[in-house]
Amino acid sequence: MKTAVVVGLGKIGLPLAAQFASKGMRVIGCDVLVEVVESVNAGKAHIREEAGLDEAVASAVRAKRLSATTDTTAAVQQADTVVVIVPLMVSPDRTMDYRSLDAATRAVGRGLKPGTLVVYETTLPVGTTRRRIAPMLEKESGIKAGAEFHLAFSPERLYAGRIFEDLRRYPKIVGGVDDASSKAAVAFYESVLDAEVWAVENRSLPKPLIATSTSPSPTSSPCTPRAGRSTSPRLSRPRTPSLTRTSTGRASASAATASRCTRTSSSAMPPTAS
Ligand SMILES: NC(=O)c1ccc[n+]([C@@H]2O[C@H](COP(=O)([O-])OP(=O)(O)OC[C@H]3O[C@@H](n4cnc5c(N)ncnc54)[C@H](O)[C@@H]3O)[C@@H](O)[C@H]2O)c1
Repeated sequence: MKTAVVVGLGKIGLPLAAQFASKGMRVIGCDVLVEVVESVNAGKAHIREEAGLDEAVASAVRAKRLSATTDTTAAVQQADTVVVIVPLMVSPDRTMDYRSLDAATRAVGRGLKPGTLVVYETTLPVGTTRRRIAPMLEKESGIKAGAEFHLAFSPERLYAGRIFEDLRRYPKIVGGVDDASSKAAVAFYESVLDAEVWAVENRSLPKPLIATSTSPSPTSSPCTPRAGRSTSPRLSRPRTPSLTRTSTGRASASAATASRCTRTSSSAMPPTAS
């Protein structure tokens, strides 16, 4: 049985942990709050507003497929896949507070072994996975992202309160730091979700993501809407990304389109890419 570790058992993380367990994974949930860990290990959901979560957690714990711990590093040592969904706080002036994310990343890095897939689902500024997280994980683990462990970003697009419904409804978008990481992330999510999984190509972002001028975007921009679509002057994007087929036979979004144009649920956050 494969083991998935979910770091951050909050409004999103706990339902995700229960979802993965319902698909036959062994899941270890990690949180810094002892009361959260104790509650999960007792088979209880501390998140009240999520329909179906009580039963999902109770049943996963009863089946011994879900447990929780405060020791993220020890959990990660046993993991095939690690999903990080801790908060990144943003002040009104858009200053980021990375303390939770960095603490979680260091704890994950200390337990990381070759072959493990690590996916960040926290809403993050563009480039954070490559520029902040990858070096931190490499420093703590002594192994290389891409070459020795898989690393991907997959922005969480669920709405608290209807997570299980949204998990079935919205395609999951994943972007790895390299092709092997994307493939590993697609394979993981296809095994634990019923929705489609869209891989997006990883490529550098040579231009600013948000056009501040009032002049139209260049037509070659992947964020340029198709003819006839209305667009915002600040961020142009098509309603749906252009699709290609992945080797898995599932739909795949054109890389730059999805990675450069994805907005997350938080309106205070900038668009995201790995
Ligand atoms: N809530 C939403 O509707 C929503 C929607 C889309 C995306 N998101 C993204 O998901 C992130 C998490 O949202 P949430 O609503 O689940 O947050 P939450 O506050 O409900 O839960 C976060 C959990 O992470 C734990 N945590 C903090 N630091 C940790 C660490 N170092 N190690 C382990 N656990 C740690 C906290 O104790 C808490 O239990 C958000 O910051 C956002 O990026 C949330």
